[in-house]
Amino acid sequence: MYSISRRPRRNRKSSAIRAMVQETNVSINDFIYPLFLIEGSDKKEEIASMPGIYRYSLDLMLKEIKECVDFGIKGFCVFPSLGDDKKDKYATEGHNRNSLYIESLVKIKSQFPDIVLMTDIAMDPYSIDGHDGILENGEILNDETLEILGKMALAQAEAGVDILGPSDMMDGRVGYIRNVLDQAGYTQVSIMSYTAKYASAFYGPFREALDSAPKFGDKKTYQMNPANASEALIEADLDVKEGADMIMVKPALSYLDIIKSLKDNYDVPVVAYNVSGEYAMIKAAAGKGWLDGEKVMMESLLSIKRAGASIIITYFAKEAAKLLLKKQ
Ligand code: PBG
Repeated sequence: MYSISRRPRRNRKSSAIRAMVQETNVSINDFIYPLFLIEGSDKKEEIASMPGIYRYSLDLMLKEIKECVDFGIKGFCVFPSLGDDKKDKYATEGHNRNSLYIESLVKIKSQFPDIVLMTDIAMDPYSIDGHDGILENGEILNDETLEILGKMALAQAEAGVDILGPSDMMDGRVGYIRNVLDQAGYTQVSIMSYTAKYASAFYGPFREALDSAPKFGDKKTYQMNPANASEALIEADLDVKEGADMIMVKPALSYLDIIKSLKDNYDVPVVAYNVSGEYAMIKAAAGKGWLDGEKVMMESLLSIKRAGASIIITYFAKEAAKLLLKKQ
């Protein structure tokens, strides 16, 4: 009989063997769960394009965090959703110590000192123009924006945040923010840079959640061109040199090659942001019965880990955590 010397199927012959030779695992420890904050109390509004994801008033957000902590989730990233009356040209509310956002961060951290609390640094949720930097005569001003980002970083660090996530894509912002933090004595506050953040249509549902879509133009003069891979290495090089503790790729699923490339070239942990549109697609197809939502969710998260991400920021965190607990 014809002899086949190597039979990879032998390592797949039973569930026990498959488990033993499994190369990549998704764990609850890998997740950061994004949460959307709104004013008021006892408020919970579902985001139309993200079934299962809500904007919470602080009281209900604290309950949600408690529930997630009980599932074993350790990381949370909080985004504020502001009414237009709180927005201006210079995103002033972003560094107002008495704002809903900063006060809520203080409360969250004091109630849950052991979680990893992460924030986002960019002007868009507070900017009347919906851009991540200062908009002047149709242009986004880089260096002037850094000053505002530095103020936001300081206010968030003072509030007790563990990891700051500059998501604005201005040049030089990681070094600028690191310097502001260090000068003020916040040497232990980490920076997770949105290193390779692409100008992606997958952010649509997030912009709906925060009502933060740009009112003029698009974000292509600062976010990266989806066609470029080498450019991610330039951004990573700068961010690591400027002091980033972790580097992020965003979105995740259409950019797995970029995750792999950063993992292969840098020693700092690589983070993937499994963004709103990626969540929406799976939920929509699952809702129609066209896909097995749970299986596709787990396969997507696994693929992000396999590509080289150590941490995944994902709206699936709670659902995946529940599933992982059941399987234990
Ligand atoms: C803010 C920011 C965005 C996201 C995270 N931080 C939107 C954007 O840049 O337009 C998107 C996250 C998601 O889609 O889940 N700069």
